[in-house]
Amino acid sequence: MIVFCLPQHRALLPAELDGASEPALGRCRLGRFSDGELWVELDDPVAGRDCAVVGSLAPPDEQTLSTLLLAHTLRRAGARRVVALAPYLGYARQDRAKPGRSLGAAWAGALLQAAGVEEVITIDVHSADAEACFPVPVTSLSPARLFAAELRRGSLEGLTVVAPDEGAVDRCAAVAAAVGVEAPVAYMRKERTAEGVVHRALVGEVGSRVVLVDDILDTGGTLLSACAELRRAGAREISVMVTHGTLSGERWRELPAAGVRRIQVTDTVPGVRERGRDVLEVLDIAPLLMEALAAAAAPRLTPPATGRPRGGV
Ligand code: R5P
Repeated sequence: MIVFCLPQHRALLPAELDGASEPALGRCRLGRFSDGELWVELDDPVAGRDCAVVGSLAPPDEQTLSTLLLAHTLRRAGARRVVALAPYLGYARQDRAKPGRSLGAAWAGALLQAAGVEEVITIDVHSADAEACFPVPVTSLSPARLFAAELRRGSLEGLTVVAPDEGAVDRCAAVAAAVGVEAPVAYMRKERTAEGVVHRALVGEVGSRVVLVDDILDTGGTLLSACAELRRAGAREISVMVTHGTLSGERWRELPAAGVRRIQVTDTVPGVRERGRDVLEVLDIAPLLMEALAAAAAPRLTPPATGRPRGGV
């Protein structure tokens, strides 16, 4: 397998991934014409080869378009199979069909398929609903083992794993199971109102020590509201573990002042280290990504099972 990586994600691949070993790093150039149009040029032959594109479908739009154009170029150059390895699969929060409203997850899936992508591998997709919108198989890798290893570095006594909404319950249960001790899971009922995120109820008991686990830290509204509710419920020590730090605006910077002792976020989103400096502790997703690449590179005798009908509209 040859891996072509957008420059934004290059830091996620090990330096020793070069042309000599498998999976090999493919060489390509991406640029813009003077009018701003993107172009791609491959510097390695790919005819008959399995290829992976490491790139996310997420803002800024340049990242999305570069991923699509690169996949399309590989296919046209004769690649046998193109797999998209998207550390963060954006648009997945638009996962429910509502009349007159965009279904971004289905749109992203359709674009990838049209570009010649046959399979998507990502880290911690937002929801099963989003995954079901994709017309091609999606493999979502859980960061639960990574989070559990971090939790085991400290004391697990009296620890409760808390989901800031019902959608995060399975994610939290996976982390609790990976920790390997009896770590109870509680969850909160969340509503988005005109004023922002509000937590109305906490379901389950929480001890004095809590770790909030979520897939995305974006504005910070969800976790700030969850913290306030947890403090009212008696939590004294709160920490946060999040997979994707999209970090929009500046409000998420208020989390330490809201009583969060530690915020750990993986580096699936480019720029999270620089932007989160001083506030976040960034966890290295590269080992999980390399596992995914090894699995994608393994010879396929049969196409991967999809399990459910695909391509929600
Ligand atoms: C929502 O369902 C997600 O799982 C996250 O909780 C949400 O996207 C976080 O966004 P924000 O930080 O803006 O509240």
